[in-house]
Amino acid sequence: MKAILLAGGKGTRLRPLTLHTPKPIVPIFNRPFLHYQIDLIRQIPEIDEVILSLNYQPRRIEDVFGDGSSLGIKIRYVVEPAPLGTGGAVKFASDGVTDSIVVFNGDVLTQVDLAAVLRLHRSRQARATIVLTPVENPSAYGLVETDAAQNVLRFLEKPTPDQITTNYINAGIYVLEPSTFDRIPDDTPWSIERSFFPSLIERGETFVAYPYDGYWIDIGTPEKYTQVHRDIMDGRYQTSPFAGQPAGHVFRADDVRVEEGAIVEGPAFLDEGVVVRAGARVGPYTVLGRGCQIEADARVDGAIFWGNGRVGQEAVVANAIAGRNVHVGRGTTVGPGAVLGDKTAITDYSKV
Ligand code: GDD
Ligand code: MG
Repeated sequence: MKAILLAGGKGTRLRPLTLHTPKPIVPIFNRPFLHYQIDLIRQIPEIDEVILSLNYQPRRIEDVFGDGSSLGIKIRYVVEPAPLGTGGAVKFASDGVTDSIVVFNGDVLTQVDLAAVLRLHRSRQARATIVLTPVENPSAYGLVETDAAQNVLRFLEKPTPDQITTNYINAGIYVLEPSTFDRIPDDTPWSIERSFFPSLIERGETFVAYPYDGYWIDIGTPEKYTQVHRDIMDGRYQTSPFAGQPAGHVFRADDVRVEEGAIVEGPAFLDEGVVVRAGARVGPYTVLGRGCQIEADARVDGAIFWGNGRVGQEAVVANAIAGRNVHVGRGTTVGPGAVLGDKTAITDYSKV
């Protein structure tokens, strides 16, 4: 059986981080995002191949995952000549496949029991099965109404406030039957959410829901991206290196140097080569990627640095995200909500 990961979006809401790093490989701690999805997929031994459906910076992604051997699963890349939308992309990527297919939006992180979803799909002999998750505000998602037997009655993408009748939304995980793909046109963009799902309902085909109340998040915005790190550090999503650790755990790679008189408050993540100089303070929920240097008396709180960041003496960085090679000058203040693209250099004593 094959799994398709839809990873062709541009990740515009995560700009500038995604200018040089497509969303599927933005790092969560020290692993590219899709690693975590592939971990979930690997729990189903039946799935023997992952197809990455791409169109934005495909080479960058291929360079990271290769043929999948380092991850223990076969990975194949399918690049659309032009973006075909979610429906068109699934059809294009599943060319020649006749078995049931598992499809994932490439930006969701969850611990749903995929084996149980597959069992439901089979026991109901469904044409499509969709995982649902409750959210506070469904307007940015696909709203899904069901009956008591979990048949999908209505699918409404990006509902307006007056159209919201339930908190359950499309979690972006499906089991689909390629025999239903004949309705998807070949070369025009076509949406699985706006066209394919509604067509199943119109035709009265068996379309069932698997409601899931456990951990689920979509990493599409800087706020959610930050939240994922906090959820992992707090154990709401269990994964290495925080799974099974006590609250407030500080992960320190072997060669991390925290000078005497510097303070690191957990939870925090300090990757290889990180240096924290005397008098500096690294506050809770900070993530310092490889080679970051926090100079004397600087303060970093709840910030995420991808790698080779430098925070100058007495600078303060709080609740911000910084891509690679970001330099924050001496005495500078970078405030909450700042998102700094790769190679940003901020002059000494600036206030951002
Ligand atoms: N290959 C390919 N081609 N992939 C695409 C294309 C395309 O033309 N367009 C979008 N994708 C990928 C994106 O990279 C992403 O992983 C996934 O399809 C969904 O697209 P988003 O742009 O992230 O959609 P969304 O977040 O607004 O809404 C979707 O996800 C929600 C859950 O997070 C919808 O599926 C909603 O119904 C759902 O609730
Ligand atoms: Mg999304």
